[in-house]
Amino acid sequence: MTDSKRKILITNALPYANGPIHLGHMLEHIQSDIFARFQRAMGNEVHYVCADDCHGTPVMIKAGQLGITPEELIAKARESHLHDLNGFLVSYDNYYLTHSEENRRLCERLYLAAQEKGLIKTRKISQFYDPKRGMFLPDRFIKGKCPRCGAPDQYGDNCEVCSATYSPTDLKDPYSVVSGATPELRESEHYFFDLPACGDFLHGFVHQAGVLPPEMANKLEEWFREGLQQWDISRDDPYFGFKIPGTDNKYFYVWLDAPVGYLASFEDLARREGIDFEEYLREGTPTQMYHFIGKDILYFHSLFWPAILHAGNMRLPTGIFVHGYVTVNGTKMSKSRGTFIKAATFLRHLHPETLRYYFASKLTPSVEDVDLSLQDFMAKINSDVVGKLVNLASRTAGFINKGFSGVTASAPRNIELMRGARELVPQVMAAYEARNYQEVVRSCMALADQANRYIAQEEPWKAFKDESQRERVQGVCTDALSVFRTLVACLSPILPELSARAAEFLGVGLSLAEAADPLLEHRIGEFRPLFSRIEQKDIDALIEESKEDVRQAAPAAAAQDEGEPLAPEISIDDFLKVDLRVATILSAEPVEESRKLIRLKVDLGPLGQREVLAGIRAAYKDPAALVGRQVVVVANLKPRKMKFGTSEGMVTAAGPGPERIFLLSPDQGAANGERVH
Ligand code: MSP
Ligand code: ZN
Repeated sequence: MTDSKRKILITNALPYANGPIHLGHMLEHIQSDIFARFQRAMGNEVHYVCADDCHGTPVMIKAGQLGITPEELIAKARESHLHDLNGFLVSYDNYYLTHSEENRRLCERLYLAAQEKGLIKTRKISQFYDPKRGMFLPDRFIKGKCPRCGAPDQYGDNCEVCSATYSPTDLKDPYSVVSGATPELRESEHYFFDLPACGDFLHGFVHQAGVLPPEMANKLEEWFREGLQQWDISRDDPYFGFKIPGTDNKYFYVWLDAPVGYLASFEDLARREGIDFEEYLREGTPTQMYHFIGKDILYFHSLFWPAILHAGNMRLPTGIFVHGYVTVNGTKMSKSRGTFIKAATFLRHLHPETLRYYFASKLTPSVEDVDLSLQDFMAKINSDVVGKLVNLASRTAGFINKGFSGVTASAPRNIELMRGARELVPQVMAAYEARNYQEVVRSCMALADQANRYIAQEEPWKAFKDESQRERVQGVCTDALSVFRTLVACLSPILPELSARAAEFLGVGLSLAEAADPLLEHRIGEFRPLFSRIEQKDIDALIEESKEDVRQAAPAAAAQDEGEPLAPEISIDDFLKVDLRVATILSAEPVEESRKLIRLKVDLGPLGQREVLAGIRAAYKDPAALVGRQVVVVANLKPRKMKFGTSEGMVTAAGPGPERIFLLSPDQGAANGERVH
């Protein structure tokens, strides 16, 4: 094995620093970790790296909102991401940050090489600018009315109501998500990477056998047919990122430096471990580089990334392994249903290997989505891992210990079963290499079934009572433990902890080369429970806590996700029963004894003045700032006596509260007391 030892760099897409790791991410980390563990088990030289993707506007804005620096934000994010990934037994050799010196140097090196080849162009473009915040706005930070269906609050790139796609300048009544200001179009010089100039090279690359799944190479054909576009790689100040060499206010767009972050993470590792980093970069190097990614980021990895590497005279990816999306119970993960499950939440309720096994049982090289059906998940873990795998040892080890001082028989009894184990190992190896983990699990369980049937037929628990049958019992249990050993070795990339505990109890290693050797005249240890069943209450608690996550942390996202259900239909007359009036806030004071309320005095023009107690304090921390503002008041609401006085009306506001409340105001010009229709 040593002379054919492969040198392999394995990467997983870099999670964004501005969000938590969730089960969608985990599909990928588990998929790549199994591959890395398998390649190590084959004796290959594996370097398995990841990092947090730190740069860009969202991180900058979020840090601002939290009142911390982007550097502080990314340091915290990395710590929490690492914690989750370790919790799922993901065995990275390095987990770095794209905000690193290594990455800066590599980006500059690649950029300057591209520039030398004439692949960098500049041109002025017009883009929305937030005059209040003094920054250009990415599409996702502009909202407005959909130009097609008129739905309000749609993003600058597509409408979530009618699915129209458009550019931010098409939006009606656009506003900046950052400050609420009306954005202005401004010109600025941008740097472009000449992707069309790399068209032939890229076309050849994506169709090279083994680089991409054929279905993905075909998908890319559509993009080639439409024609490749110049790629805008610059962003204006302020931006959290790397400055473009030779400029003083332009930054690399986050998607330029993100994939370079794979190499930067590896460089950091290589320096520490004395690995020849440059050997892995050289054009035409025999080393291999595999990227695991989701289908949503195919374009970046199969076009931009190889184009940049090629321009920089560096090696290309050996394989780009694309997976589909995680759905839960058949639909998109949903915060309000409690199926948007964070990695950390999962780990509080269930063992990480349950998810590793379940995802493995569903993963193939295809790009199909992977459904985590929670009932099926529970049933499969309980039936496969506990009922089939662990059972092989739990129902036989005791007899070897009690009857034979813990020593197995000197010869196998069931030759057919032993042949099955022998044939399984190469099958499993081929399946791992092809990332067909579903096949690994299927063939392992087929052998486990065969072994369990054999034990059930032989009934060692009955035979054990009969002295004359003792030898047979020892033989049957030895066979069962031999198969168990084969299986835990084969499944160890998927179930590393369970396998390690099993190997310890058996007193063997987990090497695949020896996996099918029967355990003959071998002393085993005391059997201890290796895995617990999943109970319905664990699943219920997981879902319940995921719902709580939403209530506490992300009401905004929850609302976006599905929206509040629509109230029953009403007639226009029903609507007119509600008398809405324009009013100006004359004074606003926090109600001392209450954490929620603000006491408002409002002027309704001809209708006079009113006092309104509004539960908006969590959202409006500085009540004084409300004075002078026009609002819309429900003027015919029955006065309501409260502990702190009587509320004579209600101010209207959007949002689920308590921190997300947005008071409604008429456009300029409305007079107090005017009715709202
Ligand atoms: N930061 C970029 C990747 C840069 S790689 C140079 C990014 N980050 S991400 O956090 O949004 O996603 C990271 C990976 O997780 C991507 O491969 C993405 O496809 C995957 N997933 C995110 N949500 C997912 C699901 N619900 N299901 C499966 N994978 C998904 O994109
Ligand atoms: Zn629309």
